[in-house]
Amino acid sequence: MQFEKETLKILPGALRALEEGFAALPAIETSAPGQERMAEVMQQVALRLRDNYPYFHPFYAGQMLKPPHPIARAAYALATWINPNNHALDGGRASSAMEKEAVAEIAGMFGWQTHVGHLSSGGTMANLEALWVAGQLHPGKKIAASAQAHYTHRRIRRVVGLPFAELPCDPRGRMETQALAERLARGDIGCVVATVGTTGMGSIDPLPEILRLRTQYGFRLHVDAAYGGYFTLAGNLTAETRAAYDRIGQADSIVVDPHKHGLQPYGCGCVLFRDPSVGALYKHDSPYTYFTSKDLHLGEISLECSRPGASAVALWATQKLLPLTRGGEFAAGLEACREAAISLAERLAADSRWLVPFPPELDIVVWAPRAATVRGASELAQRIFTAAAKRSLHLALIRLPIGYFPALAADSTDHQETVLCLRSVLMKPEHREWLNRILPTLDAAYRDAMEESEP
Ligand SMILES: Cc1ncc(COP(=O)(O)O)c(C=O)c1O
Repeated sequence: MQFEKETLKILPGALRALEEGFAALPAIETSAPGQERMAEVMQQVALRLRDNYPYFHPFYAGQMLKPPHPIARAAYALATWINPNNHALDGGRASSAMEKEAVAEIAGMFGWQTHVGHLSSGGTMANLEALWVAGQLHPGKKIAASAQAHYTHRRIRRVVGLPFAELPCDPRGRMETQALAERLARGDIGCVVATVGTTGMGSIDPLPEILRLRTQYGFRLHVDAAYGGYFTLAGNLTAETRAAYDRIGQADSIVVDPHKHGLQPYGCGCVLFRDPSVGALYKHDSPYTYFTSKDLHLGEISLECSRPGASAVALWATQKLLPLTRGGEFAAGLEACREAAISLAERLAADSRWLVPFPPELDIVVWAPRAATVRGASELAQRIFTAAAKRSLHLALIRLPIGYFPALAADSTDHQETVLCLRSVLMKPEHREWLNRILPTLDAAYRDAMEESEP
């Protein structure tokens, strides 16, 4: 059995409870038309959906993908009977209130008692809003982000029409603060994007040093913690990583994606601003909405108009079940993911066939197969990736500058600038126990790949 189906049993009771809230209305015809035809189409849907990697399974240890928590799935489904729209209180009263509560709990993870913020379709839209606000406050000035910042920042800066400065990374994939200091001295940086949990390697930009530079140069600091944000609850970070997390609250804006580590269905991102007065930058009138209440309509502080109230309902329910507290069940899940990553990295580093550039800061592991040349290592990584998939173990690949693997570069004579590496996001707590099955499968895939390369 692969799928949890017990949750389906709690849905009818919840649906009845919801329905009772509308009992005063004249009854309407409620049977779904064409049940048989719907069942047929649903069978077709199920067959079509088989064409997917098994994101729900621990043998899917590739990209940043995992299924939502069952309660998120159930709450989302329940909300679709109402289909609220969180643009305005007119379209989603309860779900807007739930969004405000859930978002305040996320802000609370970073020590913010006050803030302005909302959910979005994902990290890209959330970052876009943060950089749009930065551009309003520092018009024409550059946005600076590291070479390992998510690629969408380069795209967003074009959308918001701001110049961009890319900063180099240190050997652990973190923004080089010396390079940042040199850029800041030129006086044209308006906003620095610090990534807390880079997409490629899970590295954490050094917030203590970046904040020291902010005191000196006075730029706006945006923290992109779309992937890494929730790890602030984990009790097993290194002291250096913890020092960065403890300073996230000093940023001007933060992005965290509930649809990454927050156990939510896509799309659920979240943008937060420390200073609620930035809400005024969104000021606009709408001839259609904002009539039913003088309270804040979330559309008044968000660039998008319609947004799914169901996302807020799912997030609210998940956080009720698994509060965002240190030492709690949710935090334990993140700790297990990090333990899985540390364990995988240690076991790979102890094996002469592999090169691991540095221990993981969160739950992403990157490694390269040792080979005589850089090109040989890249080709072998590609073959291992394919061989592992044939054995149902799904990994990911990442192309990195060769500087992350000095040993490989030193041995090689082919002067390649980049190397294709294996990458694994161990974002399911079960990965910790499943390593005992993942590693032998990786071993077998390595042998398959080597046999394939022999003449
Ligand atoms: C650090 C970071 N920022 C932004 C994004 C973009 O988020 P989304 O895919 O939700 O738009 C990602 C996605 O992986 C990410 O890891």
